[in-house]
Amino acid sequence: MSGELPPALRAAVEALAAEFPGRELATASAAMSADYRAGRGTRFSRPVDLAAYAVTRLPATFAAARAALTEAAARTDFAPASLIDLGCGPGSAAWAAVEAFPTLAGAELVDSHAGMLATGQRLAAGAPPALAGAAWTTLAIDDALKRPATADIVVASYAFNELPAERLRASGAALARLSRGLVVIVEPGSMAGFAAVRALRDALIAAGWSILAPCPGDGACPIKAPDWCHFSQRLPRLRAHRAAKGAEVPFEDEPYSYVAAAAPGIAVRPAAARILRPPQATKPATRFRLCTPSGIIDEQVATRDRDRTRLTRKCGWGDEFPLSTTNG
Ligand SMILES: C[S@@+](CC[C@H](N)C(=O)[O-])C[C@H]1O[C@@H](n2cnc3c(N)ncnc32)[C@H](O)[C@@H]1O
Repeated sequence: MSGELPPALRAAVEALAAEFPGRELATASAAMSADYRAGRGTRFSRPVDLAAYAVTRLPATFAAARAALTEAAARTDFAPASLIDLGCGPGSAAWAAVEAFPTLAGAELVDSHAGMLATGQRLAAGAPPALAGAAWTTLAIDDALKRPATADIVVASYAFNELPAERLRASGAALARLSRGLVVIVEPGSMAGFAAVRALRDALIAAGWSILAPCPGDGACPIKAPDWCHFSQRLPRLRAHRAAKGAEVPFEDEPYSYVAAAAPGIAVRPAAARILRPPQATKPATRFRLCTPSGIIDEQVATRDRDRTRLTRKCGWGDEFPLSTTNG
């Protein structure tokens, strides 16, 4: 399972969880889940709320951010040295960024919630140097976006869907000014999360940026409601998470939407086609729903076509798909 926390982060989260009675963590976690399902911004008023976030949500937001950032890193040779994480919470996306981009040497983490920043700073004590020595800034995202370009990569995970929809286009244009190189946005894999991602994608393209992933290019997004573009990342549940949620299953699947983009002048290698949902395998053929530069297509790979089957056997939801020459 590739969604595992780095050992230092896992140990720090487990040490934080151990400071609270299991029952209190479970109650705080249930309230947070209800807020999340209702699409409400979460209120973290007590220390136990912050610990509950670290135990039950950070592992999933980290796993989603790492999947998105790893894909972004694979699609460019740009090597960022500095990072800004907007709406950083306990630093989930920054931890993912230092794993995906080992060239990072410094970071600034921005959030309006001082308690979140303090929690993140504590968890980062054993992080790689770029994060252990980071600046943690109490600031609203809108104010951070007014600054001129100050970092090579700007990331935000599960933060923009908490902003009013009408501000997203302006936020996308401001992201293009704040970053010198890359922007990676990760949101919940819901219709609302995807709507935020799409609005930011449109604004980045309008600012002259190029899409790294997941889209196969910079054309108009072909996804039409009630469908939405999202992927899924499997991750193991921490022992403390299973206790807090009363969960039996040792893993969870986190749905997420994302966009990664690069500033003008940075070479990008977007996927030729992206698999939009789990492939449907039957005996005679496997069917793939694909996003391609010419729109959404369904491609069948016949089982008797041994070469194509061998080439596509390991292709799953969210992966690049090798288009056949007739489609390419
Ligand atoms: C759901 S949490 C996500 C935290 C973290 N990025 C993650 O992926 O785990 C949303 C975070 O965004 C912060 N946030 C929401 N609106 C904000 C704003 N307007 N300015 C700064 N931070 C904001 C909240 O304080 C919270 O820490």
